[in-house]
Amino acid sequence: MTAALTAEGLHTYYGKSHILQGVSLAVAEGRITALLGRNGAGKTTTLRSLMGLTPARQGKITIFGEDTTRWPTFRIAAQGVGYVPEGRRIFANLSVEENLKVPLERGGPWTIERIFKLFPRLEERKLNRGRQLSGGEQEMLSIARALLINPRLLILDEPSQGLAPLVVREVFRIIQQMKAEGISILLVEQNARMSLEIADDAYVLDDGMIVYSGGAQELAADEARVRSLAGASAEEWTLA
Ligand SMILES: Nc1ncnc2c1ncn2[C@@H]1O[C@H](COP(=O)(O)OP(=O)(O)O)[C@@H](O)[C@H]1O
Ligand SMILES: [Mg+2]
Repeated sequence: MTAALTAEGLHTYYGKSHILQGVSLAVAEGRITALLGRNGAGKTTTLRSLMGLTPARQGKITIFGEDTTRWPTFRIAAQGVGYVPEGRRIFANLSVEENLKVPLERGGPWTIERIFKLFPRLEERKLNRGRQLSGGEQEMLSIARALLINPRLLILDEPSQGLAPLVVREVFRIIQQMKAEGISILLVEQNARMSLEIADDAYVLDDGMIVYSGGAQELAADEARVRSLAGASAEEWTLA
């Protein structure tokens, strides 16, 4: 297995609160890796540490063979890492088109024209301001922006949060399409059932520690385990 990303023994703090307590994980190249866990488990903190937004105090991060542990965020992005943050940080006052012009340019197949082909809805709305978009459109815009850096690795933090079921399907379909394009994916989700359906590998985080690491299918087959490990996401499971 070639790794797009590996993290070894990450310890991350907010002030004196010791949040990540030795998190290790790997994202294999060309695969979808799901990172699950109940609310407050440390999923967002893990992604923020990987992106250099809340750097780990201890541990080592390697992305496409480079030791990025102490790199600033912009340099990590320039290495080909697209990040879709929790809550879709789009610019509410900028138009769709202006939002798409914000990311740094990294050569590759993704251009605004190609984005509009993938998301026709965004083209229709290109002159509308961010704040006028529905939750689903905002999520698409947030993903589109990450694609424009032509990522080799795409990191998504709860892309399905707050979206209607049909829109969630659409978002998951796009994530699968990105995998088909050869992009490696690290997907943080509360929706355990749907993410395990599309993931190859899975981790479960609890109280800042990895409590499961293995195949997504193996985990999906063990409903009781998903329910006990993934907390809130298990509710989605029983509803299915
Ligand atoms: N900026 C912050 N300052 C202090 N504590 C935080 C901050 N952000 C998150 N936390 C705490 O860190 C823990 C992990 O949070 P988070 O990584 O957001 O979890 P998740 O994304 O799995 O829901 C929680 O206990 C949360 O309250
Ligand atoms: Mg979170």
